[in-house]
Amino acid sequence: MRLSVERFRLIRDIINGRYGIWFSDEHRYLMESRLGERMVQLGLESFDDYYYFIKYNPDGETEIEEAVDVLTTNETYFFREDYQLRAFAGELLPEMHRRLAGRRKLMIWSAGCSSGEEAYTIAILVKNSGLFEGWDVRIFGSDVSKRVLARARSGVYRTTSFRTTPEGIIKRHFSEHSGGMRVNDDIRALCNFGHLNLLDADKSVLLGRVDVIFCRNVMIYFDKRSKLRAISMLYDRLNNGGYLLLGHTESLLNLSTAFELVHTSEDLVYRRPEVSHG
Ligand SMILES: C[S@@+](CC[C@H](N)C(=O)[O-])C[C@H]1O[C@@H](n2cnc3c(N)ncnc32)[C@H](O)[C@@H]1O
Repeated sequence: MRLSVERFRLIRDIINGRYGIWFSDEHRYLMESRLGERMVQLGLESFDDYYYFIKYNPDGETEIEEAVDVLTTNETYFFREDYQLRAFAGELLPEMHRRLAGRRKLMIWSAGCSSGEEAYTIAILVKNSGLFEGWDVRIFGSDVSKRVLARARSGVYRTTSFRTTPEGIIKRHFSEHSGGMRVNDDIRALCNFGHLNLLDADKSVLLGRVDVIFCRNVMIYFDKRSKLRAISMLYDRLNNGGYLLLGHTESLLNLSTAFELVHTSEDLVYRRPEVSHG
């Protein structure tokens, strides 16, 4: 079944408007093959029908979620971008331990967490820092894909997720389980997962304010307008003095001047100023 340029652009624009993800014209064949399978599963006969389904059918919104799920990459693994995690563990956690000692509460958000490896990595680093015993520590992982969120909640992972995980960490924080290795309960207890679209500023308010946001390798797939919307929402969700950690290919250059740039020994991270407006 052929996906015409016109239909491709209409479907692409719907996805972009809802989720920020941008598909350039070169993605037309990828969309044709992946959504072609969805079309067959729904018993539809053409991309015209598929377009009308997502636009007008009561189940259209759910189908857009399914489409995003089959079109996007959920690639992730434990201890990804380790130099940044060293800065987080060695410099940001001690700084927050000092600064937040009065309230003894630490809130961290893994935005676009995929199957949860990033959130559990953060939990392991917080735990192993030994700084937050007796604190209220919460790590929230969110994504738009219900499929990856189910995997995150199960906490069971295969070997590919451990490609850069030190052996000692696996021994200490994971246990053998049918289908792979399972995150131990003390680490799981620190993490919660939920469905949240980075473009849904209204729903994100329910999260309250957080001290650190990891939003790595998510907005690289967005167009500029959607990045601006998401970044403004992330800024609003940070406490004053809170950190924003992006993926190593990402920056806020030409996107936002609201954040300060903080130089750690191994990385550059963004920070909502201690005294900020709004
Ligand atoms: C490549 S993974 C990155 C996972 C992890 N942050 C990492 O760096 O390893 C990108 C994730 O972003 C999610 N995503 C894409 N658009 C999103 C949106 N609008 N809101 C929330 N998550 C989104 C995708 O479903 C996918 O699981």
